[in-house]
Amino acid sequence: MCGIVAYIGSRKASPIVIKGLKRLEYRGYDSAGIALIEDSSLSIYKKKGKVTDLESHLGNLNPQSTICIGHTRWATHGEPNDVNAHPHFSASGNLAIIHNGIIENYSSIKTDLQNKGYEFKSDTDSEVFIYFIEDIQKRNNCSLEEAVRLALIKIVGAYAIVILSEDSPDTLIAARKGSPLVIGIGKNEFFLASDATPIVEYTNEVVYMNDQEMAIINKDNLIIKTTQDVETTPYIQTLDMELDTIEKGGYDHFMLKEIFEQPRSVGDCLRGRLNADTGHLVLGGIREYANKLENTDRILIAACGTSWHAGLVAEYFIEEFCRIPVEVEYASEFRYRNPVIKEGDVMIAISQSGETADTLAAIELAKSKGAIIFGVCNVVGSSIARASHEGAYTHAGPEIGVASTKAFTAQLTVLFMIGLRVAHRKGTISEGQYRELLVEMEQVPSKIAKALQLNEQIECIADLFKDARNFLYLGRGYNFPVALEGALKLKEISYIHAEGYPAAEMKHGPIALIDEEMPVVFIATNDSSYEKVVSNIQEVKARKGKVIAVVTEGDTLIPEMAEFVIEVPAIHHALMPMISVIPLQLLSYHIAVMRGCNVDQPRNLAKSVTVE
Ligand code: G6P
Repeated sequence: MCGIVAYIGSRKASPIVIKGLKRLEYRGYDSAGIALIEDSSLSIYKKKGKVTDLESHLGNLNPQSTICIGHTRWATHGEPNDVNAHPHFSASGNLAIIHNGIIENYSSIKTDLQNKGYEFKSDTDSEVFIYFIEDIQKRNNCSLEEAVRLALIKIVGAYAIVILSEDSPDTLIAARKGSPLVIGIGKNEFFLASDATPIVEYTNEVVYMNDQEMAIINKDNLIIKTTQDVETTPYIQTLDMELDTIEKGGYDHFMLKEIFEQPRSVGDCLRGRLNADTGHLVLGGIREYANKLENTDRILIAACGTSWHAGLVAEYFIEEFCRIPVEVEYASEFRYRNPVIKEGDVMIAISQSGETADTLAAIELAKSKGAIIFGVCNVVGSSIARASHEGAYTHAGPEIGVASTKAFTAQLTVLFMIGLRVAHRKGTISEGQYRELLVEMEQVPSKIAKALQLNEQIECIADLFKDARNFLYLGRGYNFPVALEGALKLKEISYIHAEGYPAAEMKHGPIALIDEEMPVVFIATNDSSYEKVVSNIQEVKARKGKVIAVVTEGDTLIPEMAEFVIEVPAIHHALMPMISVIPLQLLSYHIAVMRGCNVDQPRNLAKSVTVE
């Protein structure tokens, strides 16, 4: 989704901004642009397509400007083209804006401005925003800073904006509500971005802007104030992110790197929190409200996409071990269906980015009704992390590939730790079971590493199925959400239609699709539904479907039925999703590569979905 990068300081600004835009490419976008000051006048360069198209458009230009704002746009209002790309000029051409988010009342503001004679060039709400600001400045004869503030009070919707003015070529004005904005603090220079990835190579000191805050920045000074005109002291945090975590490190794609990082990312997630020898299991971020979690009558889980699948796995685990009813909600549905939430309800909100607009809105709704929110986020300092009462980070490191992989296993790791701790403290599992699960949890990284050794075998299978038009993924129990996740991974990056189903539901519909053309991936590891899944495999075979089965090492029955068998290491059934998902991630990766798809930036998708 849209990305913002800006720089002010003493260096040549545009190369820094363009490099930053490339760092944000993973968020998903369809056009890119920059604005800077050249020979005392404000210039904008923008182009539909990739940042490299923008670079070609710039050609041999070598702007010397030490101030620059840049943007990658993911279209909402108006199709992706050069005109709708950001930055946008104000009516006079004296101001330029980059904007992430959606202005909900833009249409009435636009009509008012049109009635005053303004003519717009683009279809975007963002252009309306900057015209509006300029009009306020003219009418009130006030400073730009004050005009921005007055406009923000009238604007309904979400925004992160940065404004550059020809009349104040040494100042940037930024603001945020609902869309993320981070300010990196250098030595007499500042970097602004939608997340920390473009900033990390220059400084690790950052300020995460809060909602309803504005920043007025020149190269020597940063002022932050609220839209109510109250100056606040910026809270400077130190980034815990290394440059190599946002680079490919020898892999062909970020997605493959991230798949192979999982033994380490799950290990990082467990480190210092769980120790099977001592029976230690502590999540530092869950303290004050821990008793609410243990004593609640029910747990709501709100999430989207892959994070929602992690929530489904957690439902199985929490219900089995904690004996607390769990409802897993698509955040986008939950927020609009007038849900029943009562004081003291507990919501676990799961989000890799911590910026997903629907999940954030679900949190705000639940909070307004008195629920306690536990956030499970990957991005430190993200909006969801900050909107939660308490929570635990997944510590998976930056996830750049749009298709989520290591975030999923890290989310499961945190969710299991939360559930296990609750079960232990409630006494809904025995000490023996608790100790056994701790030992099993500690083995997850090495078992993921073992599952990754299947890579070559899976590449061969991918080659045979790369031209399939449809795929079906089936699993039961803990492996049902894994089937959903496997299907999501495949459709996201290879554009092959894929559906995940509970294996037993197949006979209520999907079985009609099965013929010799239909590959069916069974996640059929050794658990209590194993025999029932074996019967489902038989049903597929009887209709000539091609079976690819993920089984537990040593299985002797399924290899006699399935065309292809992928053996993963044995583990406690509740932890199996962290292992059984690995071959499915690899399968979708290889199929997508073989089909020539852009694995890391699949069409139409965004990594961080900051609009509803
Ligand atoms: C987007 C991404 C998915 C992700 C979902 C939820 O659709 O492409 O990979 O699962 O958003 O994102 P979150 O950051 O909240 O986990």
